[in-house]
Amino acid sequence: MILVTGGAGFIGANFVLDWLATRDEPVLNLDALTYAGNRENLASLDGDARHVFVHGDICDRALIDRLLAEHQPRAIVHFAAESHVDRSIHGPGEFMRTNVEGTFTLLEAARAHWQGLDGDAKAAFRFHHVSTDEVYGSLGPNDPAFTETKTYEPNSPYSASKAASDHLVRAWHHTYGLPVTTSNCSNNYGPYHFPEKLIPLIIANALAGKPLPVYGDGQQIRDWLYVTDHCSAIRAILDKGTSGEVYNVGGWNEKPNIDIVKTLCALLDELQPDPAGSYSRLITYVADRPGHDRRYAIDARKIERELGWRPAETFETGIRKTVAWYLEHQDWVAHVQSGAYREWVEKNYAAR
Ligand code: NAD
Ligand code: DAU
Repeated sequence: MILVTGGAGFIGANFVLDWLATRDEPVLNLDALTYAGNRENLASLDGDARHVFVHGDICDRALIDRLLAEHQPRAIVHFAAESHVDRSIHGPGEFMRTNVEGTFTLLEAARAHWQGLDGDAKAAFRFHHVSTDEVYGSLGPNDPAFTETKTYEPNSPYSASKAASDHLVRAWHHTYGLPVTTSNCSNNYGPYHFPEKLIPLIIANALAGKPLPVYGDGQQIRDWLYVTDHCSAIRAILDKGTSGEVYNVGGWNEKPNIDIVKTLCALLDELQPDPAGSYSRLITYVADRPGHDRRYAIDARKIERELGWRPAETFETGIRKTVAWYLEHQDWVAHVQSGAYREWVEKNYAAR
């Protein structure tokens, strides 16, 4: 089996669902169920013996030691993290704990476990670390896209904590020989995306007739990838990646934020027309994010060339599927918009 951390969150849940839809190897899913983790994302696996869910923290070394000894996973796929840049600005402490201390704890547990293996099991073991393009910093308009050798220049508490975790993974390979791979991926979108992030927030707010907040001038550029394409990239790295290597994952799909917001308004106008005209009437420019990175772009040629990975979705197909999913799952959105969610919205947007 494989051990997945953070498998009740957005990308982790998509990964677990896709994994079990495409192969029979069981998944041990360790998740602390923070505000971002949701068992409802995995409801279709209820009763499926191939999915074992453990409610626990990646900082709990005794728990991880026990899980590794009991289940003997052949690989660890490490998604668990605090993932929202705006939350890291309001409160960086939890990002240091989970993203840095949590990754350290997992690496130490994995190292002890791996060193006790022998023969084929030791040779085949893998620790895959799921990271982000944000560690590379911000690009100017004419800079080349990020390659795997780009210097690290993280600018937010979130990206600094992910950069630290990437460095730990690298060091555990270099010093102890732990077989690791790392992927640095661009912005994901798709089903089960928590509505604090741009795309699901805009869809949820539009349907509720609320303002659509665009930070600053809306000309910041992100490189968007449909979430199941990120999942297929991680499977390719697990299957064919080389230990010690880093793979950048992206969709060759750079878009300014304001274009994303306008595209979502146009799709909603088509699929669920706004009784008051067009949803674009709700677009509201608000104060910028402090330290906001201007542009990210991923050069994905290494994973394409070496592992034969390519995204299956274009932005046009992926964003249409995404809007359709949110229209069909408005109950899911309502469930995750708890009191804590409303407090977050108040904290992040009221003073903007
Ligand atoms: P998410 O916030 O939706 O989910 C994170 C999950 O981790 C949740 O289920 C949460 O309960 C769990 N978690 C948090 N702290 C934990 C802890 N201490 N112990 C155990 N579980 C814990 O995040 P996501 O968007 O799915 O991102 C997953 C990973 O992918 C992260 O490492 C993130 O840095 C990376 N990433 C995300 C994107 C993106 O666009 N969302 C892009 C590139 C990389
Ligand atoms: O690049 C990969 C990263 O993408 C991941 O590592 C992060 O975990 C993930 O959250 C995402 O980070 P971003 O900060 O790019 O995502 P977010 O959806 O928060 O914002 C996307 C862009 O939209 C960004 O430029 C900020 C802007 N934005 C965001 C929100 C929430 C707005 O203009 N208004 C908003 O209300």
